[in-house]
Amino acid sequence: MIASVLRPRRSAFSLIFGFLLLLAAVVAVTAPTAPARAQGADTTAAESPTAGNVPGNVLGNTADSEFWRAIRRGETGSVTIPNAQAGQLIQSEGDNWRAVRNGPVTVYGAWAMLGIVALIALFFAVRGRIRIDAGPSGTTIERFNMIERTAHWITATSFIVLALTGLNILYGRHVLLPILGLDIFAAITLAGKYAHNFLSFAFMVGVVLIFFLWVGRNIPGKRDLHWLAVGGGLFKKGVHPPAGKFNAGQKLIFWAVILGGVSISLSGLALLFPFQFAFFGGTFEVLNIFGLGLPTDLTMMQEMQLSQLWHGVVALILIAIIIGHIYIGSLGMEGAFEAMGSGQVDLNWAKEHHSLWVQEVRSGSEAQQPAE
Ligand code: HEM
Repeated sequence: MIASVLRPRRSAFSLIFGFLLLLAAVVAVTAPTAPARAQGADTTAAESPTAGNVPGNVLGNTADSEFWRAIRRGETGSVTIPNAQAGQLIQSEGDNWRAVRNGPVTVYGAWAMLGIVALIALFFAVRGRIRIDAGPSGTTIERFNMIERTAHWITATSFIVLALTGLNILYGRHVLLPILGLDIFAAITLAGKYAHNFLSFAFMVGVVLIFFLWVGRNIPGKRDLHWLAVGGGLFKKGVHPPAGKFNAGQKLIFWAVILGGVSISLSGLALLFPFQFAFFGGTFEVLNIFGLGLPTDLTMMQEMQLSQLWHGVVALILIAIIIGHIYIGSLGMEGAFEAMGSGQVDLNWAKEHHSLWVQEVRSGSEAQQPAE
């Protein structure tokens, strides 16, 4: 009875009107027209995918996960600010770069240097200091003039500072930071960074000078093979293979310094002036002639990362080589240091290690025999 009183009376007209109103409301809500959104229409119903389209209707039928995956893969958009690189939100190669730098480069670099020091220690223990077999003669002969020695020491002193400050950049936080503490380590590293940046130019000048002064004397020749075959006589007392001004071992050092030095210099310049040089794309293009399949379409950021890795790897190799050179040029061989010290070496030393050069100097025919 009460229910029948409360129940509204429905005519056929009101039923049809209500149905049409409902239909209009559904159409209005589900039709995703931009003007409707702009006018502040209720968009709640569009929050879930509809007909294959993702919410917002911005990405068409690309899912959000695809969108972010593309960004993770390094997809680049466009930006209106001058720095076009900002269009790339995530540069995934950065992960690879960091992993290679902090992994193999750091670890194998340390092994290379410790390895060479261990080898030298072993060599010294077995062979001792290489003496002048015939004993000092008391007579000297000029080995390097002032210009040559100046070029050598410009290269050598700058290289040593560059090596120490560079090693600090790679290993300092592991080795020095725990000993010195943050403040001192930061001050030393900052000063080291400036020294590294500026002394690089002295090193470049030195490498160029050394190249022009000595290249004529460092062309490989047949007698170098014999020198190498007998280990330069370094391992056995009394063995002295004939050699010109530079023996095969020194020629190897020379070319390591020139090629390594140029390589370090170019990659160093690329680091000193960021994003100004792109050496790798073009180099890879040339190397691909041999079917290496190296990537050639590199971004400037990738170029920077490759420059850094190359700079570090070549520097570590050259440091290991130079540790050996410093040993043999000082402690390892009696009479050697004077060549770069006063420029005058003992005649017996010269006869034992550079017999053909002594003959040349004595016969005055040096100028006629440039290639060794
Ligand atoms: C304290 C460090 C060094 C010492 C004691 C030293 C000593 C010497 C000596 C004595 C020679 C002449 C060898 C001879 O008369 O046959 C020489 C040559 C040479 N040095 Fe050094 N050197 C040092 C550092 C360096 C560095 C850092 C570099 C380059 C990065 C370098 C590059 C060369 C080159 C290219 C030669 C000519 C080729 C050779 O003799 O091996 N030196 N050095």
